Amino acid sequence: MTRIPLIAGNWKMHKTAEESVAYIRALNNVLILNETRVFLAVPFTAIEQASAAAHGTRITIGAQNMHDAEEGPFTGEISASMLKAAGAQFVILGHSERRKLFGETSEFINRKVHRAFNEGIIPILCVGETLEQRQQESVQHVLSKQLKEALNGLDASQIPELIIAYEPVWAIGTGKSATPDIAQEVHRMIRLFLEHSYGNKVAERVCLLYGGSVNPGNIAELMKEPDIDGALVGGASLDVAAFARMIQL
Ligand code: PGA
Repeated sequence: MTRIPLIAGNWKMHKTAEESVAYIRALNNVLILNETRVFLAVPFTAIEQASAAAHGTRITIGAQNMHDAEEGPFTGEISASMLKAAGAQFVILGHSERRKLFGETSEFINRKVHRAFNEGIIPILCVGETLEQRQQESVQHVLSKQLKEALNGLDASQIPELIIAYEPVWAIGTGKSATPDIAQEVHRMIRLFLEHSYGNKVAERVCLLYGGSVNPGNIAELMKEPDIDGALVGGASLDVAAFARMIQL
């Protein structure tokens, strides 16, 4: 089973709409022809213009979060249908910054995953353990719980449409990426979880990304691992030359 590689940039709270358009034009000019899929999770305010700029290129635009409700009295929130109408084709859900800084629960994330599927937006579900949990050797327990809760109620036929990003909390924005061995070990663990839950055929089709201090210097080694299908890149995706280099590598 060959899975198509995917490099996704997560810009977090960076770049205006205008800056996003300039970045996308510059990236498209230097993209070399390879099979890697290129995703950019831009701020809400840039989705519409970024999608227009990416139209006709191989760059896919998405969002970094959304609410689970269809619509309603949720001041400051964004719905899946709004994202879709603005041109977002995927959405990052359950990022550890959302879980930790904004108190998002697994139940909430699960409802968002269902909503994304209902609206035809690809969810990139993030899971990952803290340093403390790793030191307590509870990585498998933590990840199985996060996966079980986030995927609750999904049909096996939906699972291959989902993208899962393993992002160890201790590696995000710290410059301390997981070693290829550690990342592969956990990716294997995630694939085995999917295999036990949905069968081997489904598990083999799911695209698994690694995220946490990925940069042009470490991406090639990480991508050599058999269960790592791509990367979710934060800080290093802000620089167009660095991001283009990572797609190339
Ligand atoms: P980082 O962030 O690449 O800056 O570590 C990754 C992420 O949070 O998705």
